[in-house]
Amino acid sequence: MTVYTRFLSQSHIGKYGSWLKSLDPVTLRAYFGIGLGPQGIDGLIRKFKKDLAHHHFLVAQIDNKWVGVIHIASYEDTVEFGVIIQKEYRRMGIADQMLGEALMWAQNRQYKKLIMHCIVENYPIRKLCQKHGLIAQNVYGDVEATMNLPKSNWLSVYHELIQRQVNWYYYLKSLGA
Ligand SMILES: CC(C)(COP(=O)(O)OP(=O)(O)OC[C@H]1O[C@@H](n2cnc3c(N)ncnc32)[C@H](O)[C@@H]1OP(=O)(O)O)[C@@H](O)C(=O)NCCC(=O)NCCS
Repeated sequence: MTVYTRFLSQSHIGKYGSWLKSLDPVTLRAYFGIGLGPQGIDGLIRKFKKDLAHHHFLVAQIDNKWVGVIHIASYEDTVEFGVIIQKEYRRMGIADQMLGEALMWAQNRQYKKLIMHCIVENYPIRKLCQKHGLIAQNVYGDVEATMNLPKSNWLSVYHELIQRQVNWYYYLKSLGA
């Protein structure tokens, strides 16, 4: 079972909304911190579409099926990540893989700081952040995990390039090309 990733093109952001709507309510609550229904999701997608330059979506797929997404919101020198892995595909290292790729993407685009917001009860995401070197602190009852991103260098650029080629290969393979 090969997991490969790709960035969603701007014209396909609506697909992210459809995928969110297909997820179970417990996952959506863990992710958003509130129970967000279809209308709330539509509102969110409309908001992203109005500000495409600051929203990026790294999608993980298995056999052409979406299994996880990292939403990257950027402002000034900071990126904020939000990650969801579909319930049936958890504990397989997919978030680990995606976070590593998203970190490198942000590093190579000269962002300096990463933030991830987690609700206090969300133990898996707090552990994931800890594993990747983010420092957590309590902010108004929630947890804000942050890290300073390392500067990009030729190795990180090369690494991203190779990673993209591998992902592209598996993507084309999944399309039967
Ligand atoms: C949090 C979440 C993204 C983890 O995804 P995942 O693909 O299952 O995570 P991985 O298998 O890659 O695990 C990576 C690390 O995360 C941590 N982790 C993941 N699930 C965990 C769990 N149930 N309990 C404890 N630690 C966990 C561990 O540190 C793990 O490393 P390890 O396997 O070496 O112990 C997933 O549970 C999820 O989508 N939850 C719902 C949405 C959500 O809460 N998003 C966070 C808001 S930003």
